[in-house]
Amino acid sequence: MIPLDLSGLNLHFDKEKKKIILIDENKETQYEPLFRKLKDVRALFCGSTITQSPETIIYSMFRGICKKKHEKTIKENKLRYDITIIEPAIFGEEYVKTAGHYHPIAKDGLSYPEVYEVIKGEGLFFLQKKEEFAGNKKLKSVFVLGKEGDLIFIPPNYGHITINTSNEFLYMANWVSSAFESEYKEIKERKGAIFYILQKNGGGFKLEKNDNYADYKAQPVFASPKKASFFGFEEKTPMYEFIESPEKLMFLNDPTVCPDLDYD
Ligand SMILES: [Fe+2]
Repeated sequence: MIPLDLSGLNLHFDKEKKKIILIDENKETQYEPLFRKLKDVRALFCGSTITQSPETIIYSMFRGICKKKHEKTIKENKLRYDITIIEPAIFGEEYVKTAGHYHPIAKDGLSYPEVYEVIKGEGLFFLQKKEEFAGNKKLKSVFVLGKEGDLIFIPPNYGHITINTSNEFLYMANWVSSAFESEYKEIKERKGAIFYILQKNGGGFKLEKNDNYADYKAQPVFASPKKASFFGFEEKTPMYEFIESPEKLMFLNDPTVCPDLDYD
């Protein structure tokens, strides 16, 4: 059992059974995962020499984790707290990653935002946003390296993927609106995000542009994770506890009141 203490919940991951166990009010609740296997996302990886089985589990998603005392607040505020666990792996030269998606428009041309927390391990959060200036199509690409306890903000109108660039499991949590379904189609059609994240000889990672974005100029930017104060909370507050002040999470359903609309 792997304890996930940083979540602020009495939460454990059973690595063998791939289940999450929450202990709350002296009661144990088991959460079952939704799996993404290699066969589901193979087309999103650039390599032609992938040797692992199509049945290899890439990541496990556990949706709607909550303490009993928060059930009503979470439902009334149309929110959801999830945990995603990405296994360590390299496919060809490319680091393991999530499928990637955009969020639909919520209000005034702004899509739903989202906030992540790294619970254990570390990962590279890659956000991409389509922009057009004077007829030139640009794709703003923001990279945020998230370590334990870091918060990663997905502002409106960004698509996002997460890459596990370590050789350990990556455990991450998210608060998001429960009012929408993620849109996977566009990133799937382009066979991934605008950059592939490849293993670099001697350690670290390097970016390789995805040829299926020949119509877009890439503009990579490296940004820092956010602190709890960015969202109006005391430093070091575990992200799960944000639900104690649900009014501060209103931006997840109304992006017009977002703490910020973009990375500089
Ligand atoms: Fe998302």
